[in-house]
Amino acid sequence: MRIAIVGGTGTLGRRVAEELRTRGHEVRILSRHSPDHPVDLTTGAGLDTALAGCDTVVDASNSRGSAKEAERTLVAGTRNLLAAEQRAAVGHHVCVSIVGCDRVPVGYYRVKTAQERAVTEGPTPWTVVRAAQFHELLGEVFTLLGRLRVLPVPSVRLQSIACAEAARAVADAAERPPRLGRMEVVGPEPADARELARTWRAVTGRRALQLPVPLPGGVGRALRAGALTTDRPDVRGTVPFAVWLAGETAGR
Ligand SMILES: NC(=O)c1ccc[n+]([C@@H]2O[C@H](COP(=O)([O-])OP(=O)(O)OC[C@H]3O[C@@H](n4cnc5c(N)ncnc54)[C@H](OP(=O)(O)O)[C@@H]3O)[C@@H](O)[C@H]2O)c1
Repeated sequence: MRIAIVGGTGTLGRRVAEELRTRGHEVRILSRHSPDHPVDLTTGAGLDTALAGCDTVVDASNSRGSAKEAERTLVAGTRNLLAAEQRAAVGHHVCVSIVGCDRVPVGYYRVKTAQERAVTEGPTPWTVVRAAQFHELLGEVFTLLGRLRVLPVPSVRLQSIACAEAARAVADAAERPPRLGRMEVVGPEPADARELARTWRAVTGRRALQLPVPLPGGVGRALRAGALTTDRPDVRGTVPFAVWLAGETAGR
């Protein structure tokens, strides 16, 4: 198959691209800085040329800015992408989303829910793959905060997964026919973010004072109770955070 990966240079996208290439597919990497297929979701620039002849599109783009910027890339961008897919007769749109995003209606999660809606109401047959937080994201956040020698961590129940395992599930979805439904992909074990921060300190040996941060209101209650987790995932990864982190730390 010829598969376009929007955001194919990102944390998830580049692993999905590697996985699909290994499986013998022709993969096109689309992003603003892609040397071969430069596109901008917010304007639609480059999409018609980049999607010509593609069977499937995986949208692994992201925006790490404000919710407003995320809305421009992920919601308006999805509409631009779907319109281009229709012109190119693309048969399957795979949207990468987040487990429980619709149970936490604030900021970025609200944008992800709106992105899903654009896909499920859009013209291209679709699959939504909801992943839990990546171990890579937690590692990045703890490392950044740890530089300040303090780790302010709220109580949030997570089910984080190694990005490579999530990428395999996204690649599987791209190879199958459109599901017209969601699938959920999580790590092997749920854990509180505070427990994961303690694991990070123990495995990396970094000294940082861990501070509890209160998360007030209904959103805080929902996050503590596991709004970003699921008991019945379609795919459960096998690599716990501590094992993934030990591998990363040894590789440095
Ligand atoms: N990170 C997590 O823990 C996590 C967990 C679950 C689900 N997800 C979902 O997985 C997806 C990918 O996340 P990620 O963390 O892998 O993202 P990421 O590392 O931030 O990568 C974002 C990608 O999007 C591209 N991009 C950004 N703006 C663009 C634009 N206007 N037009 C075209 N391409 C654009 C970037 O390339 P250029 O800069 O070259 O444009 C890059 O390739 C997102 O949907 C996210 O919600 C992430």
